[in-house]
Amino acid sequence: MNVPERVRWAVDRLGLCGGEHVLEVGGGPGVSAGLICAALTTGRLLAVDRSPTATRATAERNAPHVEAGRLAVLGRALADLDPADVTGALGGRVDVALTVDVNVFWVDDAPAEAAVLHRVLSPGAVLHVLYGAGGPTPADRVVPRVRAALGGAGFVDLADVAEPPGFGVRARRP
Ligand SMILES: C[S@@+](CC[C@H](N)C(=O)[O-])C[C@H]1O[C@@H](n2cnc3c(N)ncnc32)[C@H](O)[C@@H]1O
Repeated sequence: MNVPERVRWAVDRLGLCGGEHVLEVGGGPGVSAGLICAALTTGRLLAVDRSPTATRATAERNAPHVEAGRLAVLGRALADLDPADVTGALGGRVDVALTVDVNVFWVDDAPAEAAVLHRVLSPGAVLHVLYGAGGPTPADRVVPRVRAALGGAGFVDLADVAEPPGFGVRARRP
């Protein structure tokens, strides 16, 4: 499988131990979902994307994980994600969440999207909003807006991420 460097880097950053309940938003074709599921034992992943093409590709690519009950795939825009969706797929517990190259947090102010993440993540959960390096928009334009969106929704311990494969913000749901 051809795994983009940013995707491998982003999943490595999660530091999964195996038992986590993970939420990914905007996983696109599901390459990251495959890496995450391979790192899970008792844990589970809910992969949410607003694109039917993306959700179809994610489910097809990762069919064994879906059949094993390790992966649930949901077609939904983040702003419309309901806590009941997370209850159904992850038993209501989200320990870790990530987005990779999802531009909603800096193209718009994204208060609705950040509020949804705050609502569905469990207390203490860690959120990673990450972008691959080398894109058209530099980190110094993206990161302050992501920080503002997450901080405005109530996330704490915001930390900038800046490494050769990518950049972004790590935050904690209090
Ligand atoms: C640029 S692609 C990145 C895909 C993958 N994460 C990667 O890095 O290869 C962005 C993905 O996020 C999804 N997306 C963008 N905004 C979204 C939103 N507000 N809610 C849910 N999915 C969204 C798009 O449908 C697309 O699949």
